[in-house]
Amino acid sequence: MCGIVAYVGPRQAYPILMKGLHRLEYRGYDSAGIALLDKELSVYKCHGKVDDLEKYVENKNTKGTIGIAHTRWATHGEPNDLNAHPHFSQTKNLALIHNGIIENYAYLKQELINRGYTFHSNTDTEVLVHLIEDIGINEKVDLVESLRIALSQIIGTYAVVIISKDDPDSLIGARKGSPLVVGVGVDEMFIASDASPIVEYTKKVVYLGDEEITIIKRNGDLKIITIENVEKTPYIQKLEFQLSALEKGGFPHFMLKEIYEQPRSIMDSIRGRLNISKEIVALGGIIDYEEKFIKAKRIIIVACGTSWHAGLVGEYLFEDIARIPVEVEYASEFRYRNPVLYEDDIIIAISQSGETADTLAAIDLAKSKGATIIGICNVVGSSIARATHAGSYTHAGPEIGVASTKAFTAQVAVLTLMALTVAQKKGTISRSRLQEIITELESIPAKVETTLKLNDHIKELAIKFKDAHNFLYLGRGYNFPVALEGALKLKEISYIHAEGYPAAEMKHGPIALIDANMPVVVIATNKGTYEKVISNIQEVKARKGIIIAVVTEGDTAVKDLADYTIEIPETAEMMVPLLATIPLQLLAYHIAVLRNCNVDQPRNLAKSVTVE
Ligand code: G6P
Repeated sequence: MCGIVAYVGPRQAYPILMKGLHRLEYRGYDSAGIALLDKELSVYKCHGKVDDLEKYVENKNTKGTIGIAHTRWATHGEPNDLNAHPHFSQTKNLALIHNGIIENYAYLKQELINRGYTFHSNTDTEVLVHLIEDIGINEKVDLVESLRIALSQIIGTYAVVIISKDDPDSLIGARKGSPLVVGVGVDEMFIASDASPIVEYTKKVVYLGDEEITIIKRNGDLKIITIENVEKTPYIQKLEFQLSALEKGGFPHFMLKEIYEQPRSIMDSIRGRLNISKEIVALGGIIDYEEKFIKAKRIIIVACGTSWHAGLVGEYLFEDIARIPVEVEYASEFRYRNPVLYEDDIIIAISQSGETADTLAAIDLAKSKGATIIGICNVVGSSIARATHAGSYTHAGPEIGVASTKAFTAQVAVLTLMALTVAQKKGTISRSRLQEIITELESIPAKVETTLKLNDHIKELAIKFKDAHNFLYLGRGYNFPVALEGALKLKEISYIHAEGYPAAEMKHGPIALIDANMPVVVIATNKGTYEKVISNIQEVKARKGIIIAVVTEGDTAVKDLADYTIEIPETAEMMVPLLATIPLQLLAYHIAVLRNCNVDQPRNLAKSVTVE
């Protein structure tokens, strides 16, 4: 939801900012813009991607050792040149970039228009830059103070950075609800939405807290104050990830690279948390909350998108092995429903980015009612990771492709460990079953590796089905969330309409859609409701639907019925999602590539949704 990057230091800012924008493009790619201060404060911005901005800026003056840049995911105002950031103030002394939504912008805008301000865009953001300038002029206060006063008048969320023509040595940033990281280099400073534009230059970062303002200077000075004007000591942390994690490493797309990273990302997510010889699972992040889990009468999982699908797998896992009732909620619905919450409820918030606005709001709501909040996040230091009482990171590494892949399987791996940790403490799992599951979990990365060898076969299937208009994905039990996730991947990146459905529910509606042109992907592995799924396949066949079945290696019954089969290794029922999801990711990927879609940056989507 918009990417922000800013630089001040001895180097030319332009190449650093452009590289940063490319790294942040996964956050939005409706328009891009840059402001550079040399003798003049110049703003260049245009509709389209960062590449378009680079072309637009060719032959223009890009000199300057201080600047700010932005890549936009449009909320208020269509994606066009005028609505692109940065936005100038009336005098053109200030330029500002913003990620978030100013909810009371209409009222503030009218006030400013009444006072003689002219607006050049339809954005909520332009209101803020005029307001800051107006306060500075009327109250005769410096820029930090006028920003502070302006922010106190704003309802909504923001991560902003301001550059001023009058101060070529400082940048000012502030955040509430949207992320902002300060990079502390040697005599140079950075601000960005995440660490990806910074890691190349420094590993020292400070994650700005909500309602905090930072002032960074060319000489490396860093100051943080709260919106109430209380000075805070910056807490400098060390970045753990490597630059190579942000590059494609020879793959044509980040998505494919990330699909192929899954043996490692699952391994990293379980490494050190399993101990086969001692027959225990130890999820350090929740150690202090094990008692709460044991006593909990229910767990509520809140998440959005793919993370919500992982939550559904979590529901099966916790109910199956830890015997705790689980509800899985869309964070966006939960927060507005006046839900009934008790102090002994446990909320598990799942989020790859750790920044999803609805999930964060759901956490705040549950916290205010006294519930215990456990996080499962991928991005270290993210807002959700910090808002929760405790939690466990998925160690999937940076995920750049907008469609989530390795984060999903890492979330499922961590949920499995979490359910096992609780089950062993609660005594709802026998030692022998625990040992069996641990052994199987350890073998999953190798089985994922084997599953990835299906790539060429899946590519052939993609060639056959690339022109389909609709797809149906069916699964039952643990494979129901897999069906939902498979359908989501396809629609996200190939723009083919796809629906995921519980296989047995198909006869209550979607069966009406089935004809000889309808590909139906059925996850029909050999455990749980296998026999029942075979009946569902028969129902599809009777209506001439085309069956693409994901089956267990060596299967014969489904193979006889299906038009095409994809064979994945045998595993325990609860671990099937970790394998069965892989071919569905590959199918969506190859279909999207064959349809010439932008796989890593699908239209209208953004990876980190920091607005409601
Ligand atoms: C966006 C992304 C999805 C993601 C969802 C939730 O819609 O495009 O891939 O699943 O947000 O994001 P989170 O970071 O909270 O997991």
